[in-house]
Amino acid sequence: MSDPGDADASLVATATARLTATSSLDTLVEVEAELLGKRSTLAAAQKALGGLEPEQRREAGLRLQTVRKQIEAIVAERRAALEQTARADRLAADRFDLTEVLASEVPWRGHLHLVQRTRDELEDVFVGMGFAVAEGPEVETDWYNFEALNMPPAHPARGMWDTLYLNLGEPETVVLRTHTSPVQIRLMQTQAPPIYAVMPGRCYRRDTPDARHIPTFNQIEGLVIDRGISFADLAGTIETFTTAYFGPDTHSRLRPSYFPFTEPSAEYEITCTICGGDGCRTCSHTGWIELGGCGMVDPAVFAAVGLDDEQWSGFAFGFGIDRCAQMRHEIPDMRVLLENDVRLLRQI
Ligand code: FA5
Repeated sequence: MSDPGDADASLVATATARLTATSSLDTLVEVEAELLGKRSTLAAAQKALGGLEPEQRREAGLRLQTVRKQIEAIVAERRAALEQTARADRLAADRFDLTEVLASEVPWRGHLHLVQRTRDELEDVFVGMGFAVAEGPEVETDWYNFEALNMPPAHPARGMWDTLYLNLGEPETVVLRTHTSPVQIRLMQTQAPPIYAVMPGRCYRRDTPDARHIPTFNQIEGLVIDRGISFADLAGTIETFTTAYFGPDTHSRLRPSYFPFTEPSAEYEITCTICGGDGCRTCSHTGWIELGGCGMVDPAVFAAVGLDDEQWSGFAFGFGIDRCAQMRHEIPDMRVLLENDVRLLRQI
C-alpha cells in the first residue's frame, strides 16, 4: 500500500510547479480554482473522507487540511509576486518622460519678456542721446505723486489718474504711483542742474483693461533741465526718439493738452501701426495712438523743489513703455502682455 505522506508531497509538488508557471493574475485565479476549488482532486479527496472509519477520517482529514494550507500559502506567495510585477508594468507604461519630448525638439531657451526688452531698448536710445538713467520707488507719498507736481489736495486734475491708495499712515497719503513723474521731483531734489535723465518704471492705475490699457503698466519719464531750454528742444528730442525707435517712416504729432506740471503741455501720438492710420479697434478708429504726455516744466514744480525758474528751464515727458512695445510689435490688444501665454511669449 502506498504511503499517504508520499501522495501528499506529490500533490504539493504538482501544485507548486503549476503555480510557479503562472505568468498572470488571471491564470493564477484559474489554477487556484483547479487546485483548491470544488472540482479539485483535493476537494474530491476531502469529500471521500465521509466513507472512512472515524479514526482514519480524523487522521486523513488533518493530512488533507495540511496539504490545502500548504497549497493556499503557495498561491498567496505567487499572487503577491504577480501583483508586484503587474504594478511595475503599470508604472512603466504610465511614466511621463519629459526628456523624450525635449529630445525630439530643438531645445528652446528662455528670453526676457517683451516689455523688459522694450524698456532696455528705450533706455539705450536715450542713453545714445546723452541721457542718464534714474529710478524711483513704486510706492509714493501723495506729496511726490501729486502735490509737488502742482496738484494740491482736492485739485481737480488728480481725477486724471484713477489712484490706488495704500492703507498706510494717514488715509490717502500713500499711493502706488500712478505715473513716473514723481521721479522727476526726487531727481531735482538730489541733483543740481543741468539734468538730462530718463526714469523708467512700473505704474499702477485703477484703469479698466482694454486694447490699450492695463492696470499695471510701465512708463519712461524724461527730464531735461538746463539754461535756455525751449519747446523746440522738446519737439526735436521727441522727433529724434521716434526715428530711432520706430524708424524714419513712422509719423508722429504733438497735440495741445493739459498737465498741471507742464505749461504748455502736449500729447505725443504716432500713426497706429495696426491699421496704418486707417482706423481700427485698437486706436478707437482714430488712426492715431497716444504714446505719452509732455511739456515745459511748470514754474510751480521749480518752486516745489527750490529751483530758480529765472535761471533754469526745462521739459519733461512720460511715455508708455507697454504702448511703445504694442505699436512697435503690432500687438492689437495690450492685455496679452500680462497673460503669460507661453505660445505668445515664444513669438515675441
Ligand atoms: C502721464 O502719466 C504724465 N505723467 C505724462 C507726462 C510726463 C506729461 C511729463 C507731461 C510731462 P498719461 O496719463 O497720459 O500722462 O500717461 C502717459 C502714457 O502712459 C499714456 O500715453 C500711455 O502710453 C501710458 N499709459 C497710461 N495709462 C496706461 C494704462 N492703463 N495702460 C498702459 N499704458 C498706459
